[in-house]
Amino acid sequence: MFEPDPGSDRPFVGINMVASVDGKATLGGRVGALTSPDDQAELHALRAEADAVLVGASTVRSEGYGRLLPDDLQEERAARGLRREPLLCIASASLRIDPDVDALADGGPRPLLVLTSSDGRLPGDPPGVEYIQGDTREGRLEFASLLRRLKAEHGVEKVMCEGGPTLNGTLFAEGLVDAVFLTMSPWVAGAGESLTIVAGPPLPEPVRLRFVAAGEVNGMALLRYRVES
Ligand SMILES: NC(=O)c1ccc[n+]([C@@H]2O[C@H](COP(=O)([O-])OP(=O)(O)OC[C@H]3O[C@@H](n4cnc5c(N)ncnc54)[C@H](OP(=O)(O)O)[C@@H]3O)[C@@H](O)[C@H]2O)c1
Repeated sequence: MFEPDPGSDRPFVGINMVASVDGKATLGGRVGALTSPDDQAELHALRAEADAVLVGASTVRSEGYGRLLPDDLQEERAARGLRREPLLCIASASLRIDPDVDALADGGPRPLLVLTSSDGRLPGDPPGVEYIQGDTREGRLEFASLLRRLKAEHGVEKVMCEGGPTLNGTLFAEGLVDAVFLTMSPWVAGAGESLTIVAGPPLPEPVRLRFVAAGEVNGMALLRYRVES
């Protein structure tokens, strides 16, 4: 499923999300109750194939994003001549992220890239953080040029985007998503949960997907789609 196009000037982008059967991205306002150890193992397996993991600032604020991979997968990557963990990239316009969140705290993934429209620095100016400043359109960061820079300047060929829904919306709107990895979790979240796996302004047009594969692990349906080009 991770098949970068050697002729492309940007990395391959997969989106990995977990959703309830009624399509919601959170349960009780968090993703934690939707996921499971099996889904986490799948998440780690997908991360282990990626050069970079991309997440929105709100997801980092709520989920922390400290360690990306367990020891065994880090060892496996090192044996393949890769960096032990993929590069963590955080999208943030405001740069308002608490310096105590796991990603920014001492021991968090380094180097860490912040993709932003701001010319500022994160609170506390944590060491080991690099900034890529991008252009904006209608107040939103544009990702096409940022992704090209990730490839050209950081050698990133495969990006696994783990949301959240707002960031996913931007990537779909710009036509930058190549594949969707969706875990369907056996819950109905109900109308009390508002977020689905794609949020933000309406898409310019619906995105047609091509079904690729399905699996099942302890009640979690693992669905794989490619974006029709
Ligand atoms: N079900 C799942 O698999 C899953 C996965 C991930 C997250 N979640 C859940 O989703 C929730 C968070 O999602 P969310 O949609 O609210 O937020 P999000 O996409 O994680 O982050 C949104 C933030 O990212 C930055 N950002 C994203 N796109 C941008 C753009 N085009 N231009 C500028 N900045 C941009 C902005 O940061 P600033 O605010 O810093 O400017 C924006 O406020 C959490 O509850 C999390 O647990 C669920």
